[in-house]
Amino acid sequence: MRTQIGIVGAGPAGLVLAHLLHLQGIETVVIENRSRKYIEERVRAGLLEQGTVDLLIETGVGERLKRECLTHHGIELRFNRRGHRIDFDDLTGGKTVTIYAQQEVIKDLVGARLAAGLPLFFEVEDVGVHDFGPNGKPTIGFRAAGKDQTIQCDYIAGCDGFHGICRPSVPAAARMEFIRDYPFGWLGILAYAPPSSDELVYCYHDRGFALLTMRTKQVSRLYLQVPHDEDIEGWSDDRIWSELRQRTVADGDWKLSEGQIFQKNIAPMHSFVVEPMQYGRMFLAGDAAHIVPPTGAKGLNLAVADVRILAQALSEFYKTSSTKLLDRYSEICLRRVWKAQRFSWWMTSMLHRFDTDNAFDRRRQIAELDYVTSSRAARTTLAENYVGLPWDPV
Ligand code: FAD
Ligand code: PHB
Repeated sequence: MRTQIGIVGAGPAGLVLAHLLHLQGIETVVIENRSRKYIEERVRAGLLEQGTVDLLIETGVGERLKRECLTHHGIELRFNRRGHRIDFDDLTGGKTVTIYAQQEVIKDLVGARLAAGLPLFFEVEDVGVHDFGPNGKPTIGFRAAGKDQTIQCDYIAGCDGFHGICRPSVPAAARMEFIRDYPFGWLGILAYAPPSSDELVYCYHDRGFALLTMRTKQVSRLYLQVPHDEDIEGWSDDRIWSELRQRTVADGDWKLSEGQIFQKNIAPMHSFVVEPMQYGRMFLAGDAAHIVPPTGAKGLNLAVADVRILAQALSEFYKTSSTKLLDRYSEICLRRVWKAQRFSWWMTSMLHRFDTDNAFDRRRQIAELDYVTSSRAARTTLAENYVGLPWDPV
């Protein structure tokens, strides 16, 4: 089959890209190696920046989001048994963040694409990207329902996540990788328990980091820092609640809201960037090109920021035959990517317990939290990064 843009991966990057290109009249074929049910139920991110929300609403896929989302005007940083609010309204001139689960965004985008009758193949196998060098004629090979298929396209968008096949298909000599691994991960749970607090609470504690977030007014999403090689089998529900109670402790009438846990998993943490994010006629977007530790809530939002630029550049190419913007895709994206990397690393370092740290480091972390919560300048820095930096001009 023949199309203009072949998109590998139906995560936020692939689906938002396909949607934006459709609105520009550009043809796409999207292939995904998992089932529709799997990607619509996969539990991942939950926090959307204002720019992400605005884009989804402006492009017509934000109706359910508008009805069901929770809008937040600040977060709390908690340490030494006390909470300190970071007031986004005041510090960013009224910007907000939004709780709406990633799998809900996926459902909305898959629904819109299928309703428009546009091609989206699930459960494909043996995906390979070929001949996408500078003067190549790109193709994507895959098998669907037992039949070998080939997509011929002008460009390939590698939106297949961190473990995908697109990035490793770029010749090793043409890419540079920047990596930081952390000696811990997050144990995340979903529980039928009304959120304990109206806003997210980031807790620094001697026993390790904890985060209280939510999905709806009835469902809490809670995270605990655990060693990176931790076995989930060692974490009974009682142990999880006991640990959460200890790490979220606060003076006054604070009480952790508890309920039945219906999902739990452990996710490792890494910082990773590949440069450049393009090679010949293939562009990498989202987690295929970079991942961040979740403490800054940036992964999904960066994926959307990438494909917004890519859609603009491809649209310019089809309107004017100019590759000027396409040639600068990586350079434009990486400026935002590295700022999000810095912010995510900083939030992670400030809030987590590192085994290599000593008593000095813990005093230093408390001093940093004290500074961040007591200085308006420092609070502003945190707030403007957290709600999302302005889209870079292109
Ligand atoms: P993915 O979502 O990984 O999508 C890639 C798609 O490609 C997948 O559907 C995959 O099945 C498919 N695929 C892979 N290989 C192939 C192949 N060979 N052929 C075809 N398809 C393939 N981000 C935030 O912004 N805010 C948060 O609050 C947040 N919290 C998080 C909490 C946790 C616990 C975790 C793990 C992540 C969190 N993130 C958060 C990060 C966010 O989920 C990711 O950054 C986001 O999913 C990236 O989207 P993507 O489309 O680039 O990649
Ligand atoms: C989430 O709601 O899953 C979430 C929120 C904020 C983060 C990470 C995850 O920093």
